[in-house]
Amino acid sequence: MRKPVMAGNWKMNCDSDEARELADGVVAVAGQVEAADVIVCPTAVALTTVAASVKNSKVAMGAQNLFWEADGAYTGEVSAQMLLSAGCEYVLCGHSERRGRFGTLDEADADDLAAVFGDTDATVNRKARAALAAGLKPVICCGELLAERQAGNTDEVVVAQIKAALCCISAEDCANVIFAYEPVWAIGTGEVCDGDEANRVCGLIRATIAGVLGDQVAEDMRVLYGGSVKPDNVEGLMAMEHIDGGLVGGASLKADSFGDLVKAAEASAAG
Ligand code: PGA
Repeated sequence: MRKPVMAGNWKMNCDSDEARELADGVVAVAGQVEAADVIVCPTAVALTTVAASVKNSKVAMGAQNLFWEADGAYTGEVSAQMLLSAGCEYVLCGHSERRGRFGTLDEADADDLAAVFGDTDATVNRKARAALAAGLKPVICCGELLAERQAGNTDEVVVAQIKAALCCISAEDCANVIFAYEPVWAIGTGEVCDGDEANRVCGLIRATIAGVLGDQVAEDMRVLYGGSVKPDNVEGLMAMEHIDGGLVGGASLKADSFGDLVKAAEASAAG
């Protein structure tokens, strides 16, 4: 039985005061939840503030990104060790807003803000490995662009991302890995992926993991869905066989709506 997860990705929202207020709110509504893992991912500058808010609760903290070197001349970057010492337990790796996939984008999309940070399958893998080596749990994101879905390439894209992400990661390390399927066209658009289709792709992710690391690793792996998850659609998603939780942007920015999502995750554990 896989423990459900509800993770809030606050993206570039909330200054330190707002982050404290939101984290306090999440602790108030979900601070004692045991049946599901609850994760909040504030900006890097709000991590220490949020760490203090969640300290005596069951709410865990994650960062939104990392760099794979431990320290050195890497202006603007933050290492896994630094995130760990700031109180992080998790870190997102390869969120689509950080992946630059110019090779698969139309010319017109080269200016797309969603592709400015340049993560590739290879750098996502390096980040995930650095996270694991430091004792952080990577939440590795994958998902197809709208153009890739329309061209019928969803499965091929997702399988390639998963295989690349798993390079040099052992079965043992996988106990500390979470995957998140986030179709890019469903993120922040209000357009949630149909539950059956999201479940199908999450099942494909699980089958791909099984092919690389064996059935038991795949069976134990938590696979989340992300992309316009809201209180009114979460129950249907959580009922799906291969969906073990949500990675949530917009609806994680209000403690009440995030609390409702956590309740749905908890209920799915009971059911
Ligand atoms: P959304 O974002 O819930 O606002 O669609 C999800 C994500 O990007 O993780």
